[in-house]
Amino acid sequence: MNQEFLQNLKNQAISTIIETKSEDELEQLRIEYLGRNGKITQLIKDIPTLSEEKRKIMGGLINENKKIIEDALVSQKNNLQRQSGNQEKDWFDFTVPGIKPKIGNLHLISLTIKEISEIFARIGFNKVSYPEIEWDWYSFEGLNMPQNHPARDEWETFFIENLSHPKYGNAVLTPHTSSGQLREMEKVKKTLSTDRQVPIRMLNIGKCYRRQIDASHAPMFYQFEGLVIDRDINITHLKGTLDYFVKQYFGLKRETRIRPFHFQFTEPSFEIDVTCIVCGGKGCSVCKEGWMELGGAGMVHPNVLENGGIDSLKYRGFAFGWGVERLLMMKYKIDDIRLLFNNDLRFLKQF
Ligand code: DAH
Repeated sequence: MNQEFLQNLKNQAISTIIETKSEDELEQLRIEYLGRNGKITQLIKDIPTLSEEKRKIMGGLINENKKIIEDALVSQKNNLQRQSGNQEKDWFDFTVPGIKPKIGNLHLISLTIKEISEIFARIGFNKVSYPEIEWDWYSFEGLNMPQNHPARDEWETFFIENLSHPKYGNAVLTPHTSSGQLREMEKVKKTLSTDRQVPIRMLNIGKCYRRQIDASHAPMFYQFEGLVIDRDINITHLKGTLDYFVKQYFGLKRETRIRPFHFQFTEPSFEIDVTCIVCGGKGCSVCKEGWMELGGAGMVHPNVLENGGIDSLKYRGFAFGWGVERLLMMKYKIDDIRLLFNNDLRFLKQF
């Protein structure tokens, strides 16, 4: 007795089993292989005569093959019964409670994107999304950051080799959603007649990429960018909109403040702070002075309006661009951005 012999025996059994045309024929085969003097039964009887080493190996294999033959007999029996139409109906207890299939839930980032979009939709912002692979012009040049301008350093950009546009320059992985400002202005200009270019109320949410990684930065992250353009737009509209958003997202007790800052594409530019989520504004070890920084904003620079084809003497606008992860980390007090991308269900199921 050896493995090859056993293998052949099993193959022979299976091929004859699946050829059978009647249950009688099948019963004959069962007896031939598994009956009291069947071929497999005989092998089982012989096991004790083997050397100890062989006994271990062959014992396991014989049982395995026996099981395969048994399964083949059962499945062929079912086939034959099904063919002849006299299969007994399986009894089924309708009163047993069902097993609920597991359904997943949206990722915390998706939930937050949904929430942000809904908050802005209520005040008329139109949600759009623009390319993740972008030309230099939309990401920098058109946003008032000429080639070699030091302000570009902030964006730690990934450039794509061997891909460039004669007019718009190199291809980059979009480092911020601000490129959407120019794309939106262009789109509106193309689709509407000249004197109806505006108003624009855009919310551009998308993936951004930068060469950065630590507890609060990931190389791929999400931003949402707001852009409003109309006649007589001023800083109070910006402040009011952001205040509305912060109260909707974090709760009515949160307050906002605008702090002077510098961006090339806005003038004046601000950082927006919100009262600390932990201490409510009194000052604590997390925030120091009661405020937490949310992100950038400002009045759209006239050069940017002109680059987008909008008359900067007639129209003005405000814009803001914040990180989705940063926002939700503040709300849920998550201290490491990488938790959002590790796909650990114990973490994700909580939301
Ligand atoms: N794009 C900026 C960044 O990624 C954020 C930003 C600042 C967007 C000011 C704006 C703005 O629209 O007005 O850091």
